[in-house]
Amino acid sequence: MKIAIFISGSGTNMQQIIENFKSGYFSKIDEIPFVLSDNPNALGLEKAQKQGIKTFVVQKEKKEKRASFEEKILKIVNQFSPQIIVLAGFMRIISSFFLKNYKGKIINIHPSLLPSFRGVNAQQQAFDYGVKISGCTTHFVDESLDGGPIILQSFVERKNNDTFETFKQRILKEEHKILSKTIEIVSTETYKQSERYVKVEI
Ligand code: GAR
Repeated sequence: MKIAIFISGSGTNMQQIIENFKSGYFSKIDEIPFVLSDNPNALGLEKAQKQGIKTFVVQKEKKEKRASFEEKILKIVNQFSPQIIVLAGFMRIISSFFLKNYKGKIINIHPSLLPSFRGVNAQQQAFDYGVKISGCTTHFVDESLDGGPIILQSFVERKNNDTFETFKQRILKEEHKILSKTIEIVSTETYKQSERYVKVEI
C-alpha cells in the first residue's frame, strides 16, 4: 500500500512518518512515493529529499481557481495512485472536486481537540482562550473545515508555567504519535465507522 504526504511547512509530522516507515512501524505500507508541498520554501521538502523521497511543489497562483490548482495536484497523485493521502501540516482546504476522487482516503492532523479551534493557528487560539486542556486530532477529510469524522485525539494539559512555545511543542509531540497510529489504523482497516463515530479496534 502506498501513502502520499502533503505538507506546507517544517514537516516534522512528515519526518516522523518517514522514520516510522523506515523502522517498520507500519504493517501495510510499503511505499511513500512522494511528498507534495504547496509552498516551495517548506523546510520539509529538504527533509524528504534527504530521506530519498521524491518531492513535488504545486503552488497556487494568486488568481488561480481552486479547481485548476487541485487538478495539477491530482495529475501528480494519479501518477502514483496512493491508497491514502496524509495531510501533515498542509495548509490548504481540499475541495469537493478533489474529494470526489479521494473521499475516505485523506487523513488530516489538526493541533486542537476538534471541534474546538478549527482553522489556522489552533494552538494560539486555544492558548489565548485560556483552555486548561487542548491537544490534537486526526480525522478523515470531508467538505467541511476540520470537521470530518474524528479518528484519534490526544489531550495535552496547559500547565501554569507553560509559555505558548512549550504548550505548542507538547501538542506537536502528541501529533507525531497519533498521526502514525492513525495511518496504521486506516491502512489496516482496523476501525468501523457508524455515522460520524469511528470505532478503533486496536
Ligand atoms: C502541525 O502542528 C499541524 O497540526 C498543523 O500544522 C503543523 C505542521 O507542523 N496543521 C494545521 O494546523 C492544519 N489545519 P509540521 O510541518 O512540523 O508537521
